[in-house]
Amino acid sequence: MNVLVVGSGAREHALGWKLAQSPQRPRLFFAPGNGGMASLGTNLALRAEDIEDLSRAAQEHRIDLTVVGPEAALVAGLADLFSSRGQAVFGPSRAAAEIEGSKTFARDLCRSYGIPIPEYAVFTSYDQAVDYVERKGAPIVVKADGLAAGKGVTVAATIAEAKQALFDLMRRKLLGPAGERVLIEECLVGREVSLHALVDGETVVPLPSACDYKRVSDGDRGPNTGGMGAYSPPVWFTAEQEEQAHRLITVPIARALVKEGRPYRGLIYPGLMITSTGPKVVEFNCRFGDPETQVILPRLEGDLLELLLATATGRLVAVSPPQVSEQAAVAVVLASGGYPGDYQTGKLVTGIRNVDQDVTVFHGGTALERPREEAHRDYYQELVPYTSGGRALTIVGRGATVAEARAKVYKNAGWVNFEGVHYRRDIALGIG
Ligand code: AMP
Ligand code: GLY
Repeated sequence: MNVLVVGSGAREHALGWKLAQSPQRPRLFFAPGNGGMASLGTNLALRAEDIEDLSRAAQEHRIDLTVVGPEAALVAGLADLFSSRGQAVFGPSRAAAEIEGSKTFARDLCRSYGIPIPEYAVFTSYDQAVDYVERKGAPIVVKADGLAAGKGVTVAATIAEAKQALFDLMRRKLLGPAGERVLIEECLVGREVSLHALVDGETVVPLPSACDYKRVSDGDRGPNTGGMGAYSPPVWFTAEQEEQAHRLITVPIARALVKEGRPYRGLIYPGLMITSTGPKVVEFNCRFGDPETQVILPRLEGDLLELLLATATGRLVAVSPPQVSEQAAVAVVLASGGYPGDYQTGKLVTGIRNVDQDVTVFHGGTALERPREEAHRDYYQELVPYTSGGRALTIVGRGATVAEARAKVYKNAGWVNFEGVHYRRDIALGIG
């Protein structure tokens, strides 16, 4: 079995790590991969968005299953291209990936099918949008319709802030075409949780839930990031609430997409706000969360390859639901100096070998190279990791409770080092 994982982050490293544990002993390929994945298989120098090149490479390397990490490749139509050539792919078609690619599409679909969401309105006219904000008052949420790599959302505490966001999106066009159409939404209050489920048409198989931390600094301060840490399980979110969330959200959205002629195959990840009146959808993602995946997969027992292959080939209904470990997992992201703004790269990463055996280090933005400095060449016989991205590494600890897993990860995080490294100290703080 040959498996190609598309992407280059710690999420994809975690996918590869779990796939490598499959009893089917797959040969793994990554495109483009990173310094961590290089030790699990073969990195192919191809970008995730170059779907034609990926399809050709999949043919050349006799790939039996391609697993797609990032949304951009799916929104670009990777799954459609592969399917049209009879190449098995884990990830939704472009039409189904619209649930992430277009926020207005996702909201309208939920409204039509009675899936719980905040009150919202859609605008292409700046003046009308401003009018609406003035009528509704603050706090209020302004969102660009298209993909904006996490930069398209403003949770505005004041009317002035909301108007500024509208001006930046619609007049200054700071996000280009993604901001030509905007949503203005009711500001939901509650705790956030990331649901994950495998979906194959109307079949929905829940995976463990997780919580992530989006702001760069402790206490949820500073700018938004791709995610600075995560934990699973979310102990404050009961099994009944989780079951209800799947019943109200993932199951009906899967059915809705079938009815709309856009059957979904892949991983669906709704970000939810658990409000006083129940769960509401903040957003849909058409792929695994990062860093959620790094805490979900270590808790999953059994063969991930079998699950992904069954989803990709329309056989999920026949697969028994995965067992989930009682153990908790906590992930802390080590970020490069400057991230999430302009960040530094090319820093030597040291200490990965010093972490405890039951702690896992997933590489995000790293590349293996020959030591750049003469002095290091005597000391290191082999290739060494240098930082190459913003979220350089994710460190994951496990334990009987979230608190134990947290203690484990923070005991080890300090041993891994590179110039300019920063990470949050409050991931999973105060959680069970
Ligand atoms: P998104 O890019 O849609 O995930 O939004 C980024 C973050 O903005 C979410 O994780 C929430 O914390 C926040 N957010 C988005 N929409 C809302 C909303 N309607 N009410 C409150 N917070 C929101
Ligand atoms: N952890 C946020 C995301 O993957 O979108």
